[in-house]
Formats: sequence, C-alpha cells, structure tokens
Amino acid sequence: MNLVKIMNSRYSTKKFDKTKKISSEDMNQIKELLRLSASSVNSQPWHFVIASTEEGKKKISKSTQGFFAFNDEKVLDASHVIVLCSRTTMDENYLKHVLEKEDKDGRFLNDEIKNSMHNARNTFTNFHKNDYNDLQDWMDKQVYLNMGSLLLGAATLGIDAVAMEGFDVKILNEELGLNKKGLTAVTIVPLGYRSDDDFNASLPKSRLDEEDVFTII
Ligand SMILES: Cc1cc2nc3c(=O)[nH]c(=O)nc-3n(C[C@H](O)[C@H](O)[C@H](O)COP(=O)(O)O)c2cc1C
Repeated sequence: MNLVKIMNSRYSTKKFDKTKKISSEDMNQIKELLRLSASSVNSQPWHFVIASTEEGKKKISKSTQGFFAFNDEKVLDASHVIVLCSRTTMDENYLKHVLEKEDKDGRFLNDEIKNSMHNARNTFTNFHKNDYNDLQDWMDKQVYLNMGSLLLGAATLGIDAVAMEGFDVKILNEELGLNKKGLTAVTIVPLGYRSDDDFNASLPKSRLDEEDVFTII
C-alpha cells in the first residue's frame, strides 16, 4: 500500500452513483475504524448514526435544504451516510462507564492503576470544564480526529467519501432526537462510489507547497 498514492487518489466526492452499495463486510470495517479511533484520555465522546435506507437518508436530508441544498444529493445518493455526533456532557457516570470498560478489557493490573487512570481522566476533563471552558470544543475535536481516520480508512478500502459541515445542525439534532440522548451532530460523511460524471473526480489536487506547511528544525 502506497500511502501518498491513496492520499492523492481520495477526494471529496460531489456525486455518488446511487446504484452502487458498500458491502456489509466493508461497512463492518468502517464501523471498527470509527470505534477504534484514538481520543484524548480515551474519552471516546462520540456516537455515530449510520443511515443506509432511503428512509434514513431522507431524515438526514431534512438538514440539507435551503442554504445547504448543495449537499442534498450527496446524502440521498450515497450508499451509507454517517452522522458523527459528539456528547454534550462528560459527567462522573460516563467517566466511570469508560473506566469499567477499560477494566473489563484488561487494562489495569490492580486497583491503584485503575484509580490513577480515573483521576487523570477526571483532571483532564475538569481542565476543559472549569479552566479552559471548552468542554464541548474538546469533545468535538475528538470527533474530528475520528473523521480524519474515517476519510483515510475509507480510501484504503476503495470507498469514496465526502466530509460535510454544510448542514443545519439544529434540524438534524431534532430529526434524529440527538439532544435528548445527550448528543449533538458535528459532521456528516456520505460514503459510496463516485458517479461517472462527478466533475470533481478528474480535477487535480491543490495543496499549499512544502515550504508553506513545514518548518524543519
Ligand atoms: C471539515 C470539513 C467540512 C467539509 N464540508 C464540506 C461540505 O459541506 N460539502 C462539500 O461538498 N465538501 C465539504 N468538504 C470538502 C472540502 O472542501 C475538501 O476536503 C477540500 O476542498 C480538499 O479537497 P479534497 O478533499 O478533494 O482533497 C469539507 C471538508 C472538511 C474536512
């Protein structure tokens, strides 16, 4: 696998072939990719809504109307559409839930190590809650990191994708009942296979030059 080749060949798909569907084997890999992503102090402050049915995609497309209509076709024609959500709270109950899962997965040799992990995670969370006052931003950043690996991972499987911030968050939260579940939509990623007439597929990549983006010391 040549990583640069894959990074060059992946692109933001503007038109999907609606007749082509992602196999359930590939979707299982995509789900594992989302679940296994790294996050600060292993906080995993995310949840993913995956739509593959016409009904599910139509629900999501209620948030790609009006000003966001340029994204509507992508949602409706993609094979699968993933709504990447962030938690809206990070309380003691949730932190304990993560801790107990780590314990079950065999992460702790003894209670002392377990307690110190809990204290460290609490300390980090409290920095963002009380000192930096950016708890929601911090959680959203973890979701963006996850989206980055999703885009690359999908490309390695030969699956086309587009990251989308162009949607009405309020409408989507309402439509999927996210706020009631302590969640908010952060981004949407439609996945599938490009249409033969996607204008964006044949355009060259454009990125800033090396000297703009690197400082070697
Ligand atoms: C966070 C984020 C949000 C984006 N939102 C949209 C969007 O709403 N609609 C769209 O067509 N493309 C969207 N894009 C695609 C970018 O415009 C695209 O990634 C960028 O121009 C680089 O092109 P490439 O992905 O083809 O390499 C988004 C990309 C990112 C990373």
